[in-house]
Amino acid sequence: MSSDRRHRFATRAVHGGQGTDPGTGAHATPIYQTSTFSYGSHARGAALFAGEAEGYVYSRIGNPTTRAFEEKIASLEGTEDAVAFGSGMGAISALMFTVLRPGDEVLTLGPLYGGTAGLLRDVLVPYGVRHRDVDDAELADAITPATRMIYLETPTNPTLSIHDLGHVAAMGRSHGVLTVADNTFSTPYLTRPLEHGIDVVVHSATKYLGGHGDLIAGVVAGPAELLQEVRAHGLRHVGSALGPFESFLLLRGCKTLALRMERHCDNAERVARSVQGHPAVAKVHFPGLPEHPGHELAKRQMDRFGGMLALELGGGAPAAARFLDELTLFTQAVSLGDVESLATHPASTTHQLLDPAELERQGITEGLVRLSIGIEDGDDLLEDVVRALDVVARATVDV
Ligand SMILES: Cc1ncc(COP(=O)(O)O)c(C=O)c1O
Repeated sequence: MSSDRRHRFATRAVHGGQGTDPGTGAHATPIYQTSTFSYGSHARGAALFAGEAEGYVYSRIGNPTTRAFEEKIASLEGTEDAVAFGSGMGAISALMFTVLRPGDEVLTLGPLYGGTAGLLRDVLVPYGVRHRDVDDAELADAITPATRMIYLETPTNPTLSIHDLGHVAAMGRSHGVLTVADNTFSTPYLTRPLEHGIDVVVHSATKYLGGHGDLIAGVVAGPAELLQEVRAHGLRHVGSALGPFESFLLLRGCKTLALRMERHCDNAERVARSVQGHPAVAKVHFPGLPEHPGHELAKRQMDRFGGMLALELGGGAPAAARFLDELTLFTQAVSLGDVESLATHPASTTHQLLDPAELERQGITEGLVRLSIGIEDGDDLLEDVVRALDVVARATVDV
């Protein structure tokens, strides 16, 4: 497998983890669609199980197509190793169950993806893990001897606020606490959390890594020793394995990650700048705008500003509903990072389980619409968004 780390990102995105198939000479990594692997002999079987020989045993624990994807992600994130899972939540829960024991504490810097918040609230806390969500400024004082993990996403969903990776990493290092960044929104093309001192990266690979809205997958990337345990817990014991076909699609998707991300960023910057000041728009949440509170930090830890943005419409819930229904190129759906543009209303969909006080704290108003800007022609996307906003503005005037 070729994963030469001397090469630059786009080269590693194409070649990382992949090379001519040693068995057949196949140029594209084959889909090893098999549940089990022959030992060849009784002696080799015993050696494999004793950890004295290397090789594949059973696809729940390891598969060559999936391994190529894991090596590609380790190369792109600059980590020692990576382990793939059947979903982003599979990856996050495998990591948390590996590291956290009853009595341990995890500190999160919210807001978090709702699934991760739910995993903590409904599974880990009842299992005896303590969880506190803290502000960046409170972090230093919040760490106690029980703290095992500091966990964050950056940029955050849906208001695209930015946490300081270097600060979090320094806090974790000085207290011997594992730091984890969910890098789904940025992808390693825009942010490599390890360059800022973070220990472990997790992804919903469902999003930009796959990129085409046709699979569910996750990955944990970090130190080899820890990841051996994560593989044992998450795959051997819990079993949320990624299928070889999904791994093949991910390998294919990652090859164009650099190209896709440039286009996502171009289009998102264009839409964000152009709709600022539109009469229907009260605020644009996009870290690439100088007005965004995390702009300077984003400039330091992101190579560009990503493909996600959120629009706060002055007309509240009716304006958001009208805007969404007027869009023609955006699919109204959850998820993000697909080549196709997607739009959603967080308050009534992804974040509807939050109570009103929490929605307010996170800035998730009734007028907030989240856009995952795709790689379609930027002119077409902008025309679609502006036309829908014009309808909203006219409707507000008519009322
Ligand atoms: C930031 C983030 N992390 C994790 C997840 C969970 O990933 P999956 O849906 O692949 O389980 C999501 C899903 O939307 C997400 O947005």
